[in-house]
Amino acid sequence: MSSANEDPDTTPSRSDSAEGADPARVLRAGVVGLGFAGTTHLDAYTALPGVEVVALAGQESERLAMLGETRGVPDLYADWEDLVARDDLDIVSIGTPNFLHHPIALAALESGKHVFCEKPLAPTGALAAEMVDAARAANRVLEIAYNHRRRADVQYLARYLESGPLGSVYHARASWTRRRGIPGLGSWFTSKALAGGGPLVDLGSHVLDIALYLLGEPRVTSVSAVAYSELGKHGRGGREGTKTTGTGHLFEVEDFASALLRLDSGGSLQLEASWAGYTKDDDDIAIELLGSTGGARLFVENYATDDTLRLYADLEGEPVTITPTVHVPAGHHQTVIEEFLATIRSGEWSTSFGDYALHRSRVLDAVYESAREGREVSVA
Ligand SMILES: NC(=O)c1ccc[n+]([C@@H]2O[C@H](COP(=O)([O-])OP(=O)(O)OC[C@H]3O[C@@H](n4cnc5c(N)ncnc54)[C@H](O)[C@@H]3O)[C@@H](O)[C@H]2O)c1
Repeated sequence: MSSANEDPDTTPSRSDSAEGADPARVLRAGVVGLGFAGTTHLDAYTALPGVEVVALAGQESERLAMLGETRGVPDLYADWEDLVARDDLDIVSIGTPNFLHHPIALAALESGKHVFCEKPLAPTGALAAEMVDAARAANRVLEIAYNHRRRADVQYLARYLESGPLGSVYHARASWTRRRGIPGLGSWFTSKALAGGGPLVDLGSHVLDIALYLLGEPRVTSVSAVAYSELGKHGRGGREGTKTTGTGHLFEVEDFASALLRLDSGGSLQLEASWAGYTKDDDDIAIELLGSTGGARLFVENYATDDTLRLYADLEGEPVTITPTVHVPAGHHQTVIEEFLATIRSGEWSTSFGDYALHRSRVLDAVYESAREGREVSVA
């Protein structure tokens, strides 16, 4: 692996990137991870103006060399520690297994870098809280890759809801369910210690994020949940063709979870996440909002990009169903990274320390606790 070899006369110091700095200066990013997430981050930065990826880290040496070569990244590292130790980075972008989000983020934030982190923020709410505290203490942005919220159909729904056509939204459903979609049976994904959980943290975190966002960020006050592990532990339900790092871990997580969440708005949200199950759903996201004067449904079958929305209302006393024509282009990761970069350039990030993601992590903690103990639990 080559390491950084910088000319102090031409390499901008990290302090240039602090608040009050020239917003036109090109930001310097380091990306950790070479899997789907890390590569997507890398490609998003590469496609965006005003930022360059100067360092990349990951443990698959051939892939590291290939990505360095094809994306023009000069400095390549096997271990994240060597990348984060550089003092010329504005940004560290984390696309590693979940258990590494916390140590990488803390090291990066404490050395003054802004952090873009994959979801879930951390395997537990306690670790996530330390990350948010570190961002606030360092006064650096901590943004999370809730990319699906940036889908054009979700954004359309958010705009539609603004004028209040649904009246009082009293209940919502949010689910991401798969027929056969355990990512990497036996990899870090199915290790409780390395991932924090199964489909609930992997897929459920995305649909929880979308639902809370569309509902206007109510706080979840309590949770009553169930979780099952019926397929993965018998080696069933694995997604064909998934390639993830690390092997040898047992299936220690749930493959199905369902939870009723009570909201401080007075309403409720049914959250369901499943990597595998004997159902028609292949790989389906659904968000439904039930209001006193209308309803809305987002249904994304197998990452569909068209015909994903239905709006329900009454017209002249009769029920009508509206089908908005919204095409969903690819590139939601790029959108959230673009927003992250804009926040850094704005110099205004006092509300960008990841608190909203911490709440989501605490909700997921409560779901597991409720399922384990068989009772309703309060959200911290
Ligand atoms: N937002 C999304 O849509 C989305 C999609 C997929 C995955 N993810 C998230 O992204 C993260 C990674 O998932 P993935 O599917 O890319 O995983 P992966 O296993 O394919 O890749 C993980 C990468 O981390 C690297 N890594 C591990 N230990 C390292 C170390 N010590 N130093 C440097 N690099 C190290 C590995 O070498 C590998 O390149 C997870 O948190 C996952 O939840 C998010």
